[in-house]
Amino acid sequence: MVDLKYIHHSAFYIKSEDKGILIDPWVDKNGKFSWKEEKIDDIFLTHAHGDHLGNAVEISKEKDIPVTAVFETANYLSEKYGIKTKSIGLGGWIHYPWGRVVFVPAFHSNSLPDGSYGGVAAGIIIDVEGVRIYHAGDTCLTGEMKTIKELYAPQIALLPIGGTYTMDVEHAAMAAKWLGAKTVVPMHYGTFPEVEADLKKFAQLIAVGNTSCQILDTDQV
Ligand code: NI
Ligand code: MN
Repeated sequence: MVDLKYIHHSAFYIKSEDKGILIDPWVDKNGKFSWKEEKIDDIFLTHAHGDHLGNAVEISKEKDIPVTAVFETANYLSEKYGIKTKSIGLGGWIHYPWGRVVFVPAFHSNSLPDGSYGGVAAGIIIDVEGVRIYHAGDTCLTGEMKTIKELYAPQIALLPIGGTYTMDVEHAAMAAKWLGAKTVVPMHYGTFPEVEADLKKFAQLIAVGNTSCQILDTDQV
């Protein structure tokens, strides 16, 4: 069974049998998640902003595992820090021992720690054990989400709701409708004053459709 854990901000840990996957691993803010003790096989980055790059370099080095990211971001990380990377572009399935992944468009910027261009920002679709999960990364509401439904029909959508840098609760509720996902998990809220969000309102907006809103507790990692 696939186990999805919300760690902090946009960081998620997906456990499938004996494999573990981290997405946007800004994990050191959650003292309950001790990555050193967890099985981690792959790290994914939607983009390289600090709140998504997080502890990726440290974890990759310590565990000797690759970071999968768009071309410019992956190349920067391997050249600057000497870590293992998988450099990819949007739109093609990439296969792993535990499943497969495709990077999809996100409407956002992407800069590297030194301010240089990190390539396009992305969302990530993950197929694991017959479950399809969409991590939207940082993005505004975009018609691409209708295409994502048509092409991929994700069952679970992890959506930013904090506003300012991404969708707010109203647009995220619209995104949920466009994606047609059975389950929506909010992320990218409550971390900074700029991304405060009304979770209750989000749950109410979601309840109008056929989607269920799962607010994951970061204490349950
Ligand atoms: Ni960002
Ligand atoms: Mn962000």
